[in-house]
Amino acid sequence: LGQEYPLTEDQISAYRRDGFIALEGVITGAELQAMRDAVAGAVEAEDREDLRPMDERSACEQLFIQKVNLWQRHEAVKPFVMARRFASIARRLAGVPAVRLWHDQGLFKKPHNGRATPWHQDVHYWPHQQMQHQLSMWLALKDATVENGCMSFVPGSQKFPDLEPIDLCEPKDLYKVAPQLKGVRARTCELKAGSCTFHHGLCFHYAGPNRSDQMREAFVVIYMPDGTTYSKLSHICTDGGGWQVGQPLTEPMFPLLGA
Ligand code: SIN
Ligand code: NI
Repeated sequence: LGQEYPLTEDQISAYRRDGFIALEGVITGAELQAMRDAVAGAVEAEDREDLRPMDERSACEQLFIQKVNLWQRHEAVKPFVMARRFASIARRLAGVPAVRLWHDQGLFKKPHNGRATPWHQDVHYWPHQQMQHQLSMWLALKDATVENGCMSFVPGSQKFPDLEPIDLCEPKDLYKVAPQLKGVRARTCELKAGSCTFHHGLCFHYAGPNRSDQMREAFVVIYMPDGTTYSKLSHICTDGGGWQVGQPLTEPMFPLLGA
């Protein structure tokens, strides 16, 4: 995990043009197995503590099991969130001098969960005063397929920062929010376990329902440029932290990732 993942100039320009890129085998072999076991163990342990049946959970909670900042509670997950290899990909794609961790999340979709994750842009949910260089790694811990709810992206949609935010719990028609994207064909990214996509915080994305009989297991690590400042929007990762508007988001919650 200390080793760099090679990125070509073509891959970097494709990311900057499209707002996303799929990368094969960013983690493989025993490291992948260890990562999958650490994350799945953590997500499943935390989910087991939640005894509410599905129909008592909110619309958002019914979409997927979402466990945020596993690195803070699970030592076994931490090295994968801090990994130089992943952070260095993020830094090079974003083209910034240094990146910090914004947060991680285990996103598991239960078998036969008929709910799609609606089209949305991520940055509108985040209490950040900047929105140009945040990006998320969505890593498949198990193969991600159309059947089990892999991701799709609208190429070039990161160029539209001023659209109405879409509430994940109240899906809206993408083309009502963004009529300028009509006619742009979305691209669906099936991924082998250990492969990932990186997407820009403004790139529209969607994930299908899980129609398979296995859990869809994804792990997301979200990076922001060093110097990203707090905007006062309420967010689970900053609420109660005493952050002041304009203050740079820094240690210990948002560590600089030596990459
Ligand atoms: C999902 O995995 O279902 C959605 C991921 C995302 O919104 O980034
Ligand atoms: Ni998202």
